[in-house]
Amino acid sequence: MERRGFLKTAAGSAAAALVFGRRGALAQQADSHIEILVGEPIGAIAPEVYGHFTEHLGSVIYDGIYVGEGSKIANQRGLRSALIEKMRAIKAPVVRWPGGCFADSYDWRDGIGPKDKRPRRTNFWTDSFSEAQRKQNIPQIYDPNEFGTDDFVRFCKLSGAEPYIAGNVRSLTPMDFDHWVEYCNSPKGTTTLAETRAAAGEPEPYNVRYWGVGNESWGCGGNFDPEDYAIEYKRYTTWVPSYGVNLRFVASGPNSDEQAWTRGFFNKLFHGQPSRDPHGVWGLSVHHYATNLSRGKSSDWDASKGDALKFDPIDWYELCKESDRIEKIILDHWTALGEFDLEHKIKLVVDEYGPWYRPGTENSPEQLLGQQITVRDAVVTGLTLDTFNRHAEKVGMAACAQLVNCLNSLFLTHGDQFATTPVFNVFELYAAHQGGTAVRSEFSAPEVRYDRDGKPATFWGLKGSASLKGKTLTLTAVNPDVSQPREAEIMLRGAKAVSAKAWVVGDGDIHAHNSLGQPEQVKTRAAEVSVRGGSLSFTFPAASVVKIEVQLS
Ligand code: AHR
Repeated sequence: MERRGFLKTAAGSAAAALVFGRRGALAQQADSHIEILVGEPIGAIAPEVYGHFTEHLGSVIYDGIYVGEGSKIANQRGLRSALIEKMRAIKAPVVRWPGGCFADSYDWRDGIGPKDKRPRRTNFWTDSFSEAQRKQNIPQIYDPNEFGTDDFVRFCKLSGAEPYIAGNVRSLTPMDFDHWVEYCNSPKGTTTLAETRAAAGEPEPYNVRYWGVGNESWGCGGNFDPEDYAIEYKRYTTWVPSYGVNLRFVASGPNSDEQAWTRGFFNKLFHGQPSRDPHGVWGLSVHHYATNLSRGKSSDWDASKGDALKFDPIDWYELCKESDRIEKIILDHWTALGEFDLEHKIKLVVDEYGPWYRPGTENSPEQLLGQQITVRDAVVTGLTLDTFNRHAEKVGMAACAQLVNCLNSLFLTHGDQFATTPVFNVFELYAAHQGGTAVRSEFSAPEVRYDRDGKPATFWGLKGSASLKGKTLTLTAVNPDVSQPREAEIMLRGAKAVSAKAWVVGDGDIHAHNSLGQPEQVKTRAAEVSVRGGSLSFTFPAASVVKIEVQLS
């Protein structure tokens, strides 16, 4: 810790209070209270909220997912076996591909047919490499297209996930988009593209449901105005043959909280009239990255971001705060959507989120946007997933950016080395929420107080979410305080606990992380929950993410 002198927490100044259970008995020395209102459902948690994002960027695809069919690394037709196994462990429901910014530069035809005939193309991200690096003919810079649609869909199938394909609006046409849908979904033996797919060993249609219509169309996806993009959106999505698949189109959405984009796009698409018809939009994409930019010391965007490994508690809390903006972003866009989509049929799709640090901690120079992942990232991922659960009726899908060797990655690889990160542990814990019914939960805990470079600042002390599946209640929560455990009484309204188990990620070392050399530094550990009179008490360790599974009577 570099700035510990200034730090103090609310709990440090406020003594833990004695509290009494509902029957008057001394329940627990608690400073925090969680109420779970089991009879107040929020909505079903779509499994797709626990989705992932993969882009032809740095080593996400080449080295991360795809090692090549002839590789000595264990693989299934070129796909890294260790990664597939772990995807199944977290019940990965959906994977987005091929970008990201890359999507609007990608011609899907380059990635089909015999691999040795596929063209090598300049990757969208090439200019982010140095001049010296650009002299190397490596797949991160000059994409050999060995990994294409068939490989992606195969990766999804093996992982137990659904594919979510982002189409190219900036540099291809609506006809190309139609043909990509045709390649994926036209039935066996029908079209020429179905035959091409069959020749690749895949006669049966892929039945891809989720289609993104461009990516960040306000930026790398074409620098569109929202009104211009609305016109494009119609051209790409109107009358696309369905092949019997319930196609779900995701419109390119705003950057973070830019509501002007949402309003401008829907106003144009809905002809200025609120409507009960969603006008062919299933979801609106929303992206939000947390950067620690506010404490940066340089005018260069890359350099001014915080560091993935060298951070102090102030950086930690500031990053929690930046990540936590997701709740306001969800609420703001939901409100803006509601001005047009009268029945709230359109869902929010948070298909890029996570912390974004400055370069320097990647495992290898070609791993563009690669960064180390600490317990801090586990905590901000936990608080983000809890936010999605608390807004289960609004968020229809999400994707953590990005799966491997990149921003908020669950996995790190380099050649035959492979490691999971603390973000993986969080997805493993939170998988229990998938398909559950989110129920209302209220958290009250002393705020964290800290000194933000001379100014007093605060952050909430304990927050989470709860969901119900039959007689099993899953509670997940984050204690963001770097030094203070939270002693909580957990009261269930409308149900009684019979037994409970807990699991914890994070043991107080805020910098803890796995590396390729030391892949087992951060482990999920089991912990005791005390159950008395149908209620629970639990100590949430400092700087941790916790899951409590409760069996109800
Ligand atoms: O995830 C990295 C990049 O961030 C994506 O390509 C783009 O959509 C976003 O700006």
